[in-house]
Amino acid sequence: MTTFAPSLSKNNMNILLLGSGGREHALAWKIGQSPKVQQLYIAPGNAGTAQVGVNVPLAATDFEALKRFALEKQIDMVVVGPEDPLVKGIYDSFSTDAAVRHIPVVGPSKNGAQLEGSKDFAKAFMLRHHIPTARYFSVTKATEHDGVAFLKTLSAPYVLKADGLAAGKGVLILNTLEEAVGELHTMLQGSFGAASETVVIEEYLSGIECSVFVMTDGKNYKILPVAKDYKRIGEGDTGLNTGGMGAVSPVSFADAAFMQKVEQRIVIPTIAGLQQDGIDYKGFIFVGLMNVGGEPMVIEYNCRMGDPETEVVMLRIQSDFVDLLEGVAQGNLSEKTLTIDERYAVTVMLVSGGYPGDYAKGKIINGLDKTTGSIVFHAGTTSKDGKILTNGGRVIAVSSYGANKAAALQQSFAAAQVIDFEGKYYRRDIGFDLQ
Ligand code: AMP
Ligand code: GLY
Repeated sequence: MTTFAPSLSKNNMNILLLGSGGREHALAWKIGQSPKVQQLYIAPGNAGTAQVGVNVPLAATDFEALKRFALEKQIDMVVVGPEDPLVKGIYDSFSTDAAVRHIPVVGPSKNGAQLEGSKDFAKAFMLRHHIPTARYFSVTKATEHDGVAFLKTLSAPYVLKADGLAAGKGVLILNTLEEAVGELHTMLQGSFGAASETVVIEEYLSGIECSVFVMTDGKNYKILPVAKDYKRIGEGDTGLNTGGMGAVSPVSFADAAFMQKVEQRIVIPTIAGLQQDGIDYKGFIFVGLMNVGGEPMVIEYNCRMGDPETEVVMLRIQSDFVDLLEGVAQGNLSEKTLTIDERYAVTVMLVSGGYPGDYAKGKIINGLDKTTGSIVFHAGTTSKDGKILTNGGRVIAVSSYGANKAAALQQSFAAAQVIDFEGKYYRRDIGFDLQ
């Protein structure tokens, strides 16, 4: 029988998690620990998620196939890892389909996912709701002239952002006005395809970044442990941007006073803004923040958890995560408890040689069963003939607890040496800029 109200709290839940990276292995690891779970499926998953649940060979964006699967396996909740299905509207696809609307999707509506899917939308949202962020001006081909005029009001360096999703590559930081004017033109001519038909020009913010994660049922919220990721390939934060080379939690500068500002100035107005704008949002909000002289400013919103931040955030959540997810889905998150582990958690990403440029796949990963004391999350891995092979740029996220940052890192670096594959590279300075 089909019911239209969200199912009541259950103890034999079937959960379908979407995605295939380190974030999803960390989510699956945490979800799998809940006594409420009967069966966890991951679509499409990786060799690591297969150890804590059942992988399903369906793409996270194949909504019709996912719906059929959800009905067949009597799924009680869908949890969405990556942004792609959210921006493409998986929430709406389920909630407007009579056959599956009783199955809650943890993730925002298509409209809410625009916080990540369109930088112009996110900036207008922040301006409208008085949320601190860099000054900006959005331009299209027709208004390129005005964009150049705006650039002239700023001082170097200059920040240009492709409006749409650009696989993390859509932000350019230019040192001279001449370069900025040139790049603005190139972007508007389509250097990022449709994603740069609109370009957001932003004032440059100087400071140190951190990632704040919020779970919300649309009215109530819980702030998860704060983390910091390391995006550049090279030590000392040099070289090309990657998906993320490691993360730590907590973040020394994000102390109680700073987090109080984040909550009052950013989290509360963001949730209130979503409600005022009539945006259905039951999921995660990832607030990328810059600490500008002690004042938090929003660099970006994402409509999902971060990767590799999730690989440390999940370690620090002590509460039953599925209970919290149910709170999100059912609108009673305020009745749920979030307990945090006081210990440090870190993750060190082992990547394929050449990444983030070209790299080989299919290299045998050895030593996975020889590590002790770390939690080894798989990112780009697959299994074949009983062997675990590399299958992406970011391969393994080695996560560890410690009484302090140094102890946690020492643990992860020891395990990082034990796990091996041809071309393995990792940064040995994760957390270097924090106390
Ligand atoms: P995003 O894709 O929005 O996360 O931007 C990528 C990176 O560019 C951020 O993590 C920041 O390091 C940097 N960035 C973005 N916007 C600004 C800004 N307004 N000022 C300084 N750095 C920025
Ligand atoms: N670690 C940054 C992100 O997930 O976008």
